[in-house]
Amino acid sequence: MTLLDPAVPSPWRLCVAPMLDWTDRHCRHFHRLLSRHARLYTEMVTTGALLHGDVARHLDFGADEHPVALQLGGSEPADLAACAKLAERWGYDEVNLNCGCPSPRVQRGAFGACLMHEPALVADSVKAMRDAVGLPVTVKHRIGLGKDERYGFVRDFVGTVADAGCEVFIVHARNAWLEGLSPKENRDIPPLRYEVAQRLKAEFPQLTIVVNGGIAGDEAIAAQLEHVDGVMVGRAAYHEPWSLASWDPRFFGTPAPARDRAALELEMVRYMEQQAAAGVPWAHVARHMLGLWNGEPGARRWRQVWSDHKLKHEPPAVVHALAQRPVRVLEQGAAA
Ligand SMILES: Cc1cc2nc3c(=O)[nH]c(=O)nc-3n(C[C@H](O)[C@H](O)[C@H](O)COP(=O)(O)O)c2cc1C
Repeated sequence: MTLLDPAVPSPWRLCVAPMLDWTDRHCRHFHRLLSRHARLYTEMVTTGALLHGDVARHLDFGADEHPVALQLGGSEPADLAACAKLAERWGYDEVNLNCGCPSPRVQRGAFGACLMHEPALVADSVKAMRDAVGLPVTVKHRIGLGKDERYGFVRDFVGTVADAGCEVFIVHARNAWLEGLSPKENRDIPPLRYEVAQRLKAEFPQLTIVVNGGIAGDEAIAAQLEHVDGVMVGRAAYHEPWSLASWDPRFFGTPAPARDRAALELEMVRYMEQQAAAGVPWAHVARHMLGLWNGEPGARRWRQVWSDHKLKHEPPAVVHALAQRPVRVLEQGAAA
């Protein structure tokens, strides 16, 4: 596979970020109905959870989710290699190593962002995974740790890990401050420095560089794609899911899979019915689509219906009918 042929968009051109508690398989199913080409990432799964826990619960996914990457959290090369094998056996398209999470729990496990202090260990981990599987092994990382903003730090990290065979780097373009900030603050407070991702691309043109952090809307995405191979969008994709509907036509030259929001909602109702038959409460699915009508008349009421726990025993079709009422009433009001 050539990653750099300008006629063929990089497989990493647009990605939806791994987000713990958010990008589960139901969320990814929903996002896939909005874009056929966006690359989707699982929540981070730790090597401990996979090697000692319920593998199927962590790894099962729907056949329609491809291309989909499993993100791993861990720092033992042998454990990571064993988990990469599981990922391959389960049919994932990529294994991604988390070197960007600053949470105290992850730091205690000595992985996530603190791995940026140990590029040789990350290189060993990448090598072990690459030796174990044929899948692309990629790394998601920050551009520095603490207040140290020297470019040389991230350049040496990327250089060392690339020497071990990693060809794709997802660059969350802000430092991680490992002390004094919560994980949430660490996604907002350290300043964004996109120029660092751009410089990495200029310095390592053979690598695929995907930029992440604070990017929302097609214009912002297009501006980044002038400089790097791909863009990963996290919170904006989750909170404003309909924004994904323009991705295929604009960035991949193919029609949008969803005709409109109402048709998409109906498809999700069908999916909720299938899931309900398998014992999954509809609310586990519906929670990911609550931003679908944002900006449209009646969106707040619609959202309230789909998040109303008093309706949890009703079938999805009934909740759907109830949710339509405020939208229709308002639309009729506006038309009158
Ligand atoms: C709720 C939530 C959970 C997250 N979980 C993960 C995770 O499991 N692995 C990871 O690498 N990053 C995680 N992140 C960080 C995102 O992948 C992304 O790097 C960050 O939100 C910046 O991108 P954005 O500004 O487009 O959201 C999480 C972010 C959020 C909001």
